[in-house]
Amino acid sequence: MKTTADIRRDFLRFFETKGHQIVASSSLVPENDPTLLFTNAGMNQFKEVFLGQDQRNYKRATTAQRCVRAGGKHNDLENVGYTARHHTFFEMLGNFSFGDYFKQDAIQYAWEFLTSAVWLNLPAEKLWVTVYETDQEAYDIWNKTVGVPAERIVRIGDNKGAPYASDNFWQMGDTGPCGPCTEIFYDHGEHIWGGPPGSAEEDGDRYIEIWNVVFMQFNRQADGTMLPLPKPSVDTGMGLERISAVLQHVNSNYDIDIFRRLVAKAADITGTVDLKNKSLNVIADHIRSCAYLIADGVIPSNEGRGYVLRRIIRRAVRHGHLLGAKGAFFYQLVPTLIEVMAEAGNELKDNQALIEKLLRQEEEQFARTLERGLVLLDEALAKVENKVLSGEVVFKLYDTYGFPYDLTADICREKEIVIDQDGFDRAMEAQRQQAQAASNFGIDYSNVISVDGETCFEGYSESESLGKVLAIFHDGKEVERLQAGQSAVVVLDNTPFYGESGGQIGDSGRLESQSAVFAVKDTQKYGKVFGHIGELLQGELVVGQSLNAAVDSQRRAKTALNHSATHLLHAALRQILGTHVSQKGSLVSDSILRFDFAQPEAISKAQLNAIEDLVNQQIRANLPIVTEIMDLDAAKAKGAMALFGEKYSEQVRVLSMGEFSTELCGGIHAKRTGDIGLFKITSEGAIAAGIRRIEAVTGANAINWLHQLQAVIQQSADLLKADSNSLVEKIQQLQERNKRSEKELQLLKEKAAQQAGNNLAKQTQTINGVQVVLQKLDGVEAKSLRIMVDDLKNQLGSAVIAFASVSDGKVNLIVGVTNDLTAKVKAGELVNLMAQQVGGKGGGRPDLAMAGGAQVENVAIALASAKTWLENKL
Ligand code: SER
Repeated sequence: MKTTADIRRDFLRFFETKGHQIVASSSLVPENDPTLLFTNAGMNQFKEVFLGQDQRNYKRATTAQRCVRAGGKHNDLENVGYTARHHTFFEMLGNFSFGDYFKQDAIQYAWEFLTSAVWLNLPAEKLWVTVYETDQEAYDIWNKTVGVPAERIVRIGDNKGAPYASDNFWQMGDTGPCGPCTEIFYDHGEHIWGGPPGSAEEDGDRYIEIWNVVFMQFNRQADGTMLPLPKPSVDTGMGLERISAVLQHVNSNYDIDIFRRLVAKAADITGTVDLKNKSLNVIADHIRSCAYLIADGVIPSNEGRGYVLRRIIRRAVRHGHLLGAKGAFFYQLVPTLIEVMAEAGNELKDNQALIEKLLRQEEEQFARTLERGLVLLDEALAKVENKVLSGEVVFKLYDTYGFPYDLTADICREKEIVIDQDGFDRAMEAQRQQAQAASNFGIDYSNVISVDGETCFEGYSESESLGKVLAIFHDGKEVERLQAGQSAVVVLDNTPFYGESGGQIGDSGRLESQSAVFAVKDTQKYGKVFGHIGELLQGELVVGQSLNAAVDSQRRAKTALNHSATHLLHAALRQILGTHVSQKGSLVSDSILRFDFAQPEAISKAQLNAIEDLVNQQIRANLPIVTEIMDLDAAKAKGAMALFGEKYSEQVRVLSMGEFSTELCGGIHAKRTGDIGLFKITSEGAIAAGIRRIEAVTGANAINWLHQLQAVIQQSADLLKADSNSLVEKIQQLQERNKRSEKELQLLKEKAAQQAGNNLAKQTQTINGVQVVLQKLDGVEAKSLRIMVDDLKNQLGSAVIAFASVSDGKVNLIVGVTNDLTAKVKAGELVNLMAQQVGGKGGGRPDLAMAGGAQVENVAIALASAKTWLENKL
């Protein structure tokens, strides 16, 4: 029987024999596509190729693409694990033609792969197909060329209530590439309920769609217009888990080899005997999305992608707890996952330490709040009327206890209670508006700037060149001309200005004609054009006019040093800490470089010094910095480090510094490493679980930094009347002296407290014949209070003493009762009563009890209530 890994390999090999290039799966984090939360289809990485905006050196490609379909507002995460085919993570097998073959070959390839004895060998009579209602061409190919009988070909029209809204018309989103499709179904047999596609029973499990073959023909515009694509193309997608279920003769995806192994391991770790328990499916599914998301650079957080990841982890953790798991368990599935994913697990292997560390941390953190949140939820559920849980409660759980919506929904589902979703949405929206009001957005041009044409970047060799104004944007709109004093984004056809990318900031400088001067503060890329952001200082700018564009070369040169040093740092980190170090973020400006990277452990001082030494050693080696343009494959063969999440075109720019560092990079660099002069790390620390940040300076900035450091040392030495050699010794002496003084001070305070106590003893009042001291004190610490109470007890022999002292903005309460009175008055009860008045809680022994509170303004009330209480008790 074929394993899932066999099927993946077969698919890629089959299409390779048909002239397709095997292309690696792209990251789950889509590059440059804000319309998409996660990669959800094989075609995502080729979107621009379909649209004719990007070209590759192949016309046919095949992939096994990792996909995540989770997220969005209220997705069906809570169903995952309970149904046979819902997953958060799955792999999509696909073949693609970019203006090469079309319907005829696409259909025949699919049929051959599925039915040929050499490949999957599925019985033809078990396969059904659908075509778009009006697609006679596809119908004829199936019927006449392939020979599928008419009774197993179903035409599906616009069955979703609008033109082109059909199960057989595939669109990537509201806009973008789309076209009619033909789908192939597998009939699992009579013993399972369900009907063929298009019938009333189509939702049953008998006929399952296994392959979608899309004939990409249009680029859908936001207003619904369908523009033809430059060339008709093909995009297909087959769910690997589904086809494995077919070939392994099981009805549920959870029964295929991969999931059986994961379920068994999850059962083992959680001590579960019943392998059919659905919580095991949930865990087996979720470990896949969570591990791959982390490998692709997503970190659990409270927003965006990180929040989806957090939700999935938390759901898995709760199901582990339902199974009775003790302690962190989820991360322990990672080694098994890596094994079962075979070749597709390489990304996981490279990031294993980080994945395990992050999962474990997240799990431990959540376990702490889970219990408290569950108590609250149980209470709320007990009070539920009409089986509807209030949206406000769900929001509070989310906001205060980190219970994601779907987690609460999951728990409710087990108890057949529904959530008032509108109420939740309202509470969420209210919070969102508050947050938005608090932030102040500038004009965002990213959706406004759309210019025909392209900016040619000349900045690798030039810092000054001539350019023609292609477009001007002012006040959020496109304009023809610009007047002095106005700020704008100016688009040129040629520019030496570097547009912010790859962490490197955009260039600044000037655009000038004979009469006009436009000061450029920043440069950004908008699709294929570069926008120069700034203000027209004098004259007038008009579209079509030519300008001299001159970059601020000094600022750029400093930036270049920082960029080159970043590459050296990246390579040094991998040498000293290990190859698990991968870039998670970077900022290269003219003043500093900042580098964020995956590193689960803290970095020791010695390691940090070694990193800094290694970088400086490479600087002194004065290696030439060489750029070459080559094929992506050649670059990878050369060992070039490609950065996570970056999308590279087929031709890439490879930057090498001797043997020490080879990276793909589009940035501006120094000529030799020696130009950097000096590299100095200025700070290092953790910024999120498993992610650390180094900041450093180079060149003149580094020297400046040292000057400042020296000045601080000098100043300190002057203040201490020391020189830099005896500075540390002087500070130690000072500290010791300080410690002694503090001790002396403490003794004095205690003495003073005793003294005060003596005075207070004279201020006793008598309540029902018992001596009582009720007193507010200022600035007496808890320790001194105890001494005072003990002393007073001795002096008075028989008494109730209560003090409220305000110190450091907090209230300290103490009650002492002599033993003869504890039958009537318990110090613990009295102190608790007082604490409640100041917003605190407390208790203790019957003869001595302490408490604290925060409401300083209520001290008088606390003392008054103590008095009333004593009047009743004594
Ligand atoms: N893009 C299509 C899908 O996602 C075919 O790959 O179904």
